[in-house]
Amino acid sequence: MSDHTLRTYDSILDLLASEENPTPLVRLRHIPGFEHATIYAKLEWYNPFGAVKDRVAASLVSDAELRGERLENLVEPTSGNTGIGLAMVANTRRYGFAATLSREIPLEKRTALRLFGTELHELDDALCPMPGQPEGAMERATELGERPGWRQLNQYKNPANPEAHYRTTGPEIWRQTGGAVTHFVASLGTCGTITGTGRYLKERNPGVKVIGVHPSDGHDIPGVRSLRALALTDFFTPQEYDGVLEVSDDEAYGLCRRLHLEESIIAGPSCGLALAGALRAVPDEPGTVAVVIFPDNAFKYLSSFRRHLPDLFPPEAPEPVVAANPFAEHLEAAFELAKQGPDVIDVHEAKRLLDAGVTVLDVRNPGEVARVQIPESVKLPLPELAQGSTEGLPVDRSEPIVAICAAGTRSLYALLLLKAQGYQDVKSVDGGMGAWVAAGHPAA
Ligand SMILES: Cc1ncc(COP(=O)(O)O)c(C=O)c1O
Repeated sequence: MSDHTLRTYDSILDLLASEENPTPLVRLRHIPGFEHATIYAKLEWYNPFGAVKDRVAASLVSDAELRGERLENLVEPTSGNTGIGLAMVANTRRYGFAATLSREIPLEKRTALRLFGTELHELDDALCPMPGQPEGAMERATELGERPGWRQLNQYKNPANPEAHYRTTGPEIWRQTGGAVTHFVASLGTCGTITGTGRYLKERNPGVKVIGVHPSDGHDIPGVRSLRALALTDFFTPQEYDGVLEVSDDEAYGLCRRLHLEESIIAGPSCGLALAGALRAVPDEPGTVAVVIFPDNAFKYLSSFRRHLPDLFPPEAPEPVVAANPFAEHLEAAFELAKQGPDVIDVHEAKRLLDAGVTVLDVRNPGEVARVQIPESVKLPLPELAQGSTEGLPVDRSEPIVAICAAGTRSLYALLLLKAQGYQDVKSVDGGMGAWVAAGHPAA
């Protein structure tokens, strides 16, 4: 038997927040600077998998199970937290789980998903996934959900998402404030939190003000959506809310930092976003009791902090100095030796070899090649050659090759690289394409 008083649990899922086991409400004592109003933060990382979306993940799965669906494998587009929750609920049931998400989601979240056994489909999608984009996370999840044995529960359309908050978040807040709550503030992603909790609170007291907070277009706060993206979100029902406010990344990250310093609360970026909205919308009046949802904590967002709070990070390590490499001197000596050696040929000899059918290898980069080139030459930029590519070169390493670049330096490095790989007969063209063109040899 699970016992919330003793905090002894039969199953990890019994730790999910409920009226009997609510996530904490903590009063913000310093940042608001209010004389009369009270602002509480509701710390959702006290859910078992670390975020507000644990409630939704459990609700999506149990709702499908209660309707008698036989689940085997689940797939979901996610900004991380729903995925993390679903991965862990799926593990308790031995279901498979796949997530589709943008590579812009912090590496910390993507790594956590892998740690939890998720089949991860990382895409070049925007941080705010939108429907109707064939290569995007949403369409990809739909596609993957059509595989036999797979099912997309779809947090964006499934009523079990707001329902989770109507059944748990709302009643918790009502009970924790003794019915005194006057304002409810949440950041907006799928809008499950605001819509489900807001409906419950307004049913108990129609005077409760429900306020949604969103970032601006092109924002960098995982989990939330700009107004443009919200317009395409089914559970965004602004007619039910009393206010919708926009907050900038700077304001959100700034408040996120202050929450650590001034309130000792380990808040993630979307907590800063929601609090910034609350500070604008909540009046400092007697009797005002505001509850702000704090969706998750800071530790999954180090890569976001690197961009927005760069002073937290040590300066980038300087580029290693080549001269410090003990082999650099030997390389230079080998290079000088090769430069004087018989394998450096002039452009006329190169032309003769080309006419005789010898492979000419151009090691310049594509931009240089586009300007002028020997049409018959094999193009393989030096960096690719250095990484071991031999694409287009003769398979038989005894066949001759003539390397050319712009002026004769890179082709000499190419000569050394190719010889090190066992090519026996390699020449480098002195003066490169510059000398070739000046001599009037054919080029395009
Ligand atoms: C960190 C974070 N903040 C806010 C939200 C928004 O919550 P909702 O989807 O219920 O609107 C999410 C949702 O994924 C989230 O992950």
